[in-house]
Amino acid sequence: TKPQTFLALNWKMNKTPSESIKWAEELLGQLDDLNIKLAIMAPSVSLAGLSGVLGDSQVGLGAQDISQHASGAYTGEVSAAMLKDLGVKYAVVGHSERREYHFESDAVVAAKAVQAIKNGIVPIVCVGEKLPEREKGEHVSYTLAQLRGSLAGVELQSADDLVVAYEPVWAIGTGKTATAQDAEELCAAIRGVLKELYPQFADQIVVQYGGSVKPDNISEICSQPNVNGALVGGASLLVNGVTGLVDGL
Ligand code: G3H
Repeated sequence: TKPQTFLALNWKMNKTPSESIKWAEELLGQLDDLNIKLAIMAPSVSLAGLSGVLGDSQVGLGAQDISQHASGAYTGEVSAAMLKDLGVKYAVVGHSERREYHFESDAVVAAKAVQAIKNGIVPIVCVGEKLPEREKGEHVSYTLAQLRGSLAGVELQSADDLVVAYEPVWAIGTGKTATAQDAEELCAAIRGVLKELYPQFADQIVVQYGGSVKPDNISEICSQPNVNGALVGGASLLVNGVTGLVDGL
């Protein structure tokens, strides 16, 4: 059986802390009982406020990044222990925007995932090719090499310790969604690597697709055999965008 569908909302650098509280209250008021996992990946300054609003509700709390270090002289960084203390359950690591603008290597991403897991936070490890690799037909090998590098030294105690998100960079924020077949091709290949690395857990590890997911395409994408949910940016910013995604599933 497939793992439970997991919809992760990545706000990126949007909403002030007070806007995020209002937004979350409105969302909770509009959600019926969910049969999926749903979580908000918020800017770190909004996590404390959101933690108060979301509490033990059916909407989980996530961070958009996490330090690769446990503590110490790392000005500006936020540690896994700090996030855990706020009730954070998930952290996006290795998003393509951090790889691109903050020069995060696979080794850094892996170190972040290790810190998260050590502190009981589930890392959502992001991988995916850019347009040149896709055009050369190297998208599978590129993405799988990135995945292996980003999971080096990452050990799991259960399938629930890890989420992998496949996000082809050319489909992020562009309106160009990968076809459901493209998403399935890569998510299946990713699961193949997970089977090598974590044979006892691979079938139940959530593999998400991300890149211009919207209410009208989420169902086809998430119904693919190896796609277990989505990491959504733009369409997650409005409350009715999120209810649309949930209803679309
Ligand atoms: O983390 C989310 C992805 O980068 C997708 O963003 O839904 O705006 O294309 P998007």
